Amino acid sequence: MDVIKPKKTVGDTGWFVQDRFGLFIHWGLYALPARHEWVKHQEEIPDEKYDVYFKYFDPDLYDPNLWAKAAYNAGMKYFVITTKHHEGFCLWDSKLTDYKAPNTPAKKDLLTPMVEAFRNYGFKVGFYHSLIDWHHPDFIIDSLHSMRNYPDRDKFNQKRDQKKYIEYLHGQVRELLTQFGKIDIMWFDFSYPSDPNRPKDWIGKGRKEWESERLLKIVRELQPYVILDDRLDLADIEGAWDIKTPEQYKPREWPKVDGTPVVWEACQTFSGSWGYHRDEYTWKSEEQLIQMLVDTVSKGGNLLLNVGPTGRGDIDHRALNRLEAFGKWMKYNNRSIYGCTQAPEELKAPQDCRFTYNPDTNRLYVHIFAWPFIHLHLDGLAGRVEYAQLLNDASEIKIGMDPWLVQQMGKKYENTLTLTLPVRKPDVTVPVIELFLK
Ligand code: GLC
Repeated sequence: MDVIKPKKTVGDTGWFVQDRFGLFIHWGLYALPARHEWVKHQEEIPDEKYDVYFKYFDPDLYDPNLWAKAAYNAGMKYFVITTKHHEGFCLWDSKLTDYKAPNTPAKKDLLTPMVEAFRNYGFKVGFYHSLIDWHHPDFIIDSLHSMRNYPDRDKFNQKRDQKKYIEYLHGQVRELLTQFGKIDIMWFDFSYPSDPNRPKDWIGKGRKEWESERLLKIVRELQPYVILDDRLDLADIEGAWDIKTPEQYKPREWPKVDGTPVVWEACQTFSGSWGYHRDEYTWKSEEQLIQMLVDTVSKGGNLLLNVGPTGRGDIDHRALNRLEAFGKWMKYNNRSIYGCTQAPEELKAPQDCRFTYNPDTNRLYVHIFAWPFIHLHLDGLAGRVEYAQLLNDASEIKIGMDPWLVQQMGKKYENTLTLTLPVRKPDVTVPVIELFLK
């Protein structure tokens, strides 16, 4: 049976499409205001005022081993950390700025120990790096900038030199790709090029303002295996990106570019904000989150799920509880995630179910989102399944229906394989049936 093979990538996505599940971490000064990582933009906070967070950033509980352990137990295999977000604050000891963790009460490079801790747990390492910078004095103030409404914006801009910012950006990327060993993912964020469909006074930034093509060369040269995301505004250039990165929504089908399926990764939050948000009450349920992982893999994608640690350097209980729920589920069901992908085209999942398929073992996984009463009918699978079991406890699931019932139904569905399920949903957030195909 043929599975969809996505377009080949320049970066090494071989491990990536096996591992499927990663942790995104958004951590910066915005953990202190605790009301969204875009707070500087949203509230148009001037630098002098935002400095208070720099002055008081003191993550006294920070222990990256605990983060790595929590992610490991959840079943995650790689992580992506914000080395710098749009606010401009850097987690490592960059030689190119003073706006960095060692100069806060944290008094040290926070990135090196994190990379080390996660590597010790076997994780692949990814860096998210913001192209945008609302702190750098040469970054031209544009329509997304925290100073966008300053009456003297143009006067400010006359003194700014985007070229100098570009050198800073490229220089920092060099630091990141040379001082931390092998980097597996480079996740730039993001481009919003000027375009004629926007209002006239709208100023954006894209490949020109980042000199993306030069940046791309640096990245590929320094880390030839690194996986690159698609936010450098180089969509049209062959080999200039490796993965598509849909954000905060579930694609309806395997994402394609020019008709060809591509390697992709959905990034999602627990509650809406990426940075730590104290008062957000839109937390997704454990069931929704596990279904999200399943749904993603059922369309051939990866899930990069985010936590926003607090200003004390801790992952708060709401996030931890959810990671633990993943751990509980993954312990018994990870076989339907690792190494799996979308099922071959001819196999269509029934209502309220998602299929994933492992081409190496030729096993099909049926994830049941709403537990049906006794029978699950799988069209097109008649005669193709050798054995069926519940994945969590390897208990047999009977294939076929009681002949008496077939008679009651008054009709034979020739191509349909019917499984006879227990009446009660097993005590598993999302139950999975493993089908050994012939
Ligand atoms: C967005 C946001 C940002 C977040 C990112 C994650 O583009 O600007 O805050 O870091 O998406 O994908």
